[in-house]
Amino acid sequence: MDRRNFIKSTACASLAYSAFAIPAPRQNKKYTTALIGSGWWGGNILQFALEAGESRLVAVCDVDQNQLDTAIANAGKLSSDRPKRYTDYRELLAQEKPEIVIVATPDHWHPLITVAAVEAGAHVYVEKPISHTINEGKAMVKAARQHDRIVQVGTHRRVSPHNMSGMEFLKSGKAGKIGMVRAFVHYPGGPGETVPNSEPPAGLDWDMWCGPAPLVPYNEKIHPKGFRQFLDFANGQIGDWGIHWLDQILWWTEEKAPRSVHSVAARHIKEDNTTAPDTQVVNYEFEDFTAVWEHRQFAGNEAEKHNIGCYFYGTEGTFHMGWLDGWTFYPSNKDKQIIHEEPQLHEPDQQNIRELWANFLSSIKTGKKPVCDIEIGYHSTNMSLLGMLSHKLGRSVRWDWEKGEIPNDPEANKLLTRAYRSPWDYPIV
Ligand SMILES: NC(=O)c1ccc[n+]([C@@H]2O[C@H](COP(=O)([O-])OP(=O)(O)OC[C@H]3O[C@@H](n4cnc5c(N)ncnc54)[C@H](O)[C@@H]3O)[C@@H](O)[C@H]2O)c1
Repeated sequence: MDRRNFIKSTACASLAYSAFAIPAPRQNKKYTTALIGSGWWGGNILQFALEAGESRLVAVCDVDQNQLDTAIANAGKLSSDRPKRYTDYRELLAQEKPEIVIVATPDHWHPLITVAAVEAGAHVYVEKPISHTINEGKAMVKAARQHDRIVQVGTHRRVSPHNMSGMEFLKSGKAGKIGMVRAFVHYPGGPGETVPNSEPPAGLDWDMWCGPAPLVPYNEKIHPKGFRQFLDFANGQIGDWGIHWLDQILWWTEEKAPRSVHSVAARHIKEDNTTAPDTQVVNYEFEDFTAVWEHRQFAGNEAEKHNIGCYFYGTEGTFHMGWLDGWTFYPSNKDKQIIHEEPQLHEPDQQNIRELWANFLSSIKTGKKPVCDIEIGYHSTNMSLLGMLSHKLGRSVRWDWEKGEIPNDPEANKLLTRAYRSPWDYPIV
């Protein structure tokens, strides 16, 4: 970037930050809180939940004792709470009846656990993407509303100071009229290596880990963390990373959803035992603009300046909404200054969970919908899921968001649901 043409707009950022200040603590009583899914990200959420000082950690649940041990040991450094250990979330919910449940399992478990938690009376902080198929998401929204519980989705970029000020910039029209948005993640990678299946490690209940998804042989590439690239449990890069950036598009536009979606995806480079596409392009037709998702898991470098985020293409210039690189506006008129804002992220892993948790607590107290309400998470998750659905069908699909269906297309509508493995029942819509 040309340093002479560089304006750093920090005033805007601190304003945005104050909108998510920690609310006043509840007098005398902490919320009984449970964590279900105590791996990498569950540990991060728990850290900020405990730091907020309004939770008493009553229980932690994981189907892998090793993950459970680590999470409980880490929680012990942050509070004097003595959480009970569970390996079955149904027992935890029945016995503890927690007021707050954090759901940070792999994606294929989010729907059943979230629905069970709100039915048991808990407010829920559930990770993105909310579901593996679209009708699961519908059931989650319905359950949250029926039981009148707050359900916050972990799309913390909606409370990141630079994303908030960037949205203000875009919505105020400073980038002009926007006709196209391109969301993308281009990370480096190669063919990868196939890891043979093996016996599950001691302490891991692999059958329960697979749960409603097909029971496949254990493979250390799947667990922990690797499920993202296996289509039985998740939806690849667009399901994992895509939702964050597709969510930014829905945040910016007044439209609820695209009218039609067409995806082309393939495994051009990968030769390992993962199953998700390493290359994917999705075109989304909105009424007022065209959106594109693009990922590839190779050739990630500085050749295209930014390798992650969204470009909003407007009549006044190109606006890049990024992550570690904040946001940058490149005016069309070369005589005008480039405008840039740095991010304000927290360690570990450069996120804004603290602000999202504060908003969650505030919603629990006021009853107001949270900033990443489940219905918002539903529409954003659907952007990813519709892309995968079109890829699986090999053709474009239309989308009626009000009905939550693909009009006059029984073949496509079948993919809004998937068969669950016994004894698990697909959540009722
Ligand atoms: N918002 C974000 O920026 C962000 C970042 C990272 C991960 N995530 C999301 O967090 C979720 C977890 O990802 P991760 O990287 O922490 O994965 P992980 O593999 O590290 O942790 C998931 C844990 O859930 C456990 N688990 C599986 N089935 C369970 C069940 N039925 N009951 C209880 N525990 C169960 C696993 O054993 C594992 O310990 C994913 O949905 C992911 O998309 C969100």
